[in-house]
Amino acid sequence: MVKSIIAPSILASDFANLGCDCHRILGAKADWLHIDVMDGHFVPNISLGLPIVESLRKAVPRGDGVSKPKAFFDCHMMIANPEKWVEEFVKVGADQFTFHYEATEDPLALAKLIKSFGIRAACAIKPGTPVDVLFDLAPHLDMALVMTVEPGFGGQKFMPDMMPKVEALRAKFPDLDIQVDGGLGKATIPVAAKAGANVIVAGTAVFGAADPADVIKFMRDEVDK
Ligand code: DX5
Ligand code: ZN
Repeated sequence: MVKSIIAPSILASDFANLGCDCHRILGAKADWLHIDVMDGHFVPNISLGLPIVESLRKAVPRGDGVSKPKAFFDCHMMIANPEKWVEEFVKVGADQFTFHYEATEDPLALAKLIKSFGIRAACAIKPGTPVDVLFDLAPHLDMALVMTVEPGFGGQKFMPDMMPKVEALRAKFPDLDIQVDGGLGKATIPVAAKAGANVIVAGTAVFGAADPADVIKFMRDEVDK
């Protein structure tokens, strides 16, 4: 059975104090750091790129998970021409590269390219993209991402009507990591967990919380119950 992976999105962090903010969230028992890369073309917003990821990797090394934070970099690539950027992001420390199905002409070749660098490959679908495009691809993926908002901005409202996509994927692929991203928090996690999502992205709900450890634990308990 799949287990909970809580992946706070650094889009909601204090970018002027990014390293400290990430240490704070990892200390609150986050599993991954979700890194939203936006190019102002695939989505109508620009977020961050290679230099930030490179610096962050120095501030939060992979470590051994005991004496150092085990910072897994979950890179959500909301960019055109994703195949051009795999190698560069691997070099600066990506552990997983999630491309958008809508951004590539050959998702299978891209998944294989990503894996050839020894990192995890994942594919995301926007709210308007039907889930069945992932059915043949999923056996070649480490994770599928079902967007629960239109990609581009943090702090949007969760779309519960995306849950049938999660249910369909979970029914076919019991062992696949299924990520949901957008509008997740204490109020919306029960629906997403029940549908079968196990990798939970949350930006505002974690970085903006008075007690991030409490929010992370709440979400983990919902997924694992
Ligand atoms: C949206 C991003 C999300 C976003 C989530 O395009 O992919 O990861 O940061 O933010 P919240 O959790 O605030 O909706
Ligand atoms: Zn994201």
